[in-house]
Amino acid sequence: MSHIPKAEYARRRKALMAQMVPNSIAILPAAAVAIRNRDVEHVYRQDSDFQYLSGFPEPEAVIALIPGREHGEYVLFCRERNAEREQWDGLRAGQEGAIRDFGADDAFPITDIDEILPGLIEGRERVYSAMGSNPEFDRRLMDWINVIRSKARLGAQPPNEFVALDHLLHDMRLYKSAAEVKVMRAAADISARAHVRAMQACRAGLHEYSLEAELDYEFRKGGAKMPAYGSIVAAGRNGCILHYQQNDAALKDGDLVLIDAGCEIDCYASDITRTFPVSGRFSPEQKAIYELVLKAQAAAFAEIAPGKHWNHAHEATVRVITEGLVELGLLKGEVQALIDSEAYRAFYMHRAGHWLGMDVHDVGEYKVGGQWRVLEPGMALTVEPGIYIAADNQAVARKWRGIGIRIEDDVVVTRHGCEILTSGVPRTVAEIEALMQAARQDAA
Ligand code: GLY
Ligand code: MN
Ligand code: MN
Repeated sequence: MSHIPKAEYARRRKALMAQMVPNSIAILPAAAVAIRNRDVEHVYRQDSDFQYLSGFPEPEAVIALIPGREHGEYVLFCRERNAEREQWDGLRAGQEGAIRDFGADDAFPITDIDEILPGLIEGRERVYSAMGSNPEFDRRLMDWINVIRSKARLGAQPPNEFVALDHLLHDMRLYKSAAEVKVMRAAADISARAHVRAMQACRAGLHEYSLEAELDYEFRKGGAKMPAYGSIVAAGRNGCILHYQQNDAALKDGDLVLIDAGCEIDCYASDITRTFPVSGRFSPEQKAIYELVLKAQAAAFAEIAPGKHWNHAHEATVRVITEGLVELGLLKGEVQALIDSEAYRAFYMHRAGHWLGMDVHDVGEYKVGGQWRVLEPGMALTVEPGIYIAADNQAVARKWRGIGIRIEDDVVVTRHGCEILTSGVPRTVAEIEALMQAARQDAA
């Protein structure tokens, strides 16, 4: 069962229905089971919008929200109980469970949806759905509409308007409740322990996947079913590949390892990056770049508070990184000119962060009416500046080449600033070196 209280799901449905026009219906399908190969399935992950409104963990289900419907506004179609299937595949809530445990007002077998849903849509003026994101479901929805249209001569009234649900729902998802922040804190704590474990286990001669195994161990031990995204464990120059996935290279003394990994709890993500030396000690060049990224991150934290807009944090990282690269001789010229010409992008080619929530790159608009969004309490985001010096960058002295460093933490905007959810992992050079030295002494 989910850590989000049942009453909160009910509140979310009410809040969504309050924004729907009168005489409308919202329809959302559960995520499909994804086949991995032949008859092996991927671990099931519920669709985030579906989960947000229901907490219902099963596939083959459809939510219909019908404000003002006399026999209940929340209708859930789901699988029927089936002793034989349950013996093979696991328990199902069934229609009784949907009502008793998940707050549905009314529940029907998913196999009856073609007979029942057109009748629920009939007479409603507007249909809200996640149009375009699930072509198969879009087609089925049109089939249901066509059933109603085919009966128009008998007086049936098909809906006239089809509206994307995303705009309403994704704006709601952007503001995290206290219960959501609590779950995100729990995910962040487990991920922090995983990063600490990987730092402690790091030795030359191991491989990137050896550290990935340490992460996975802490994730699962903490109760997370899976990582929130494919873990990146990138040693040496692999650290300059932003979405590196191979995770199979050897760890060598003198190199850094960049780990970007976070687990998911109750469909809420965490997203942490740390970069540390395989040997346990930063070289002078690694330390210089590391401290510059850290300074950029600190400058970004200071720009995250109600009233600041989305881009302030990014702008702060750009300024600090450009100034620092000039000081270190990696960029030449006048700081403002280098910012204006985006010269820093040779080293810092991504943004300082993204919304974080049920999806690691969470939903929610970054601009409203063409203007950067102003931060408000409850918004959750990552802060992840980085500097990546390509191994073949002939424009910089050889000693800098191949260094890739990112530092990423998760924050929630509070009334006066922000709360860092991921402080459980050491962040400074001294803290990281101390942790790694202590682990080596313990092992010796
Ligand atoms: N792990 C993906 C990201 O940091 O955005
Ligand atoms: Mn991120
Ligand atoms: Mn990340």
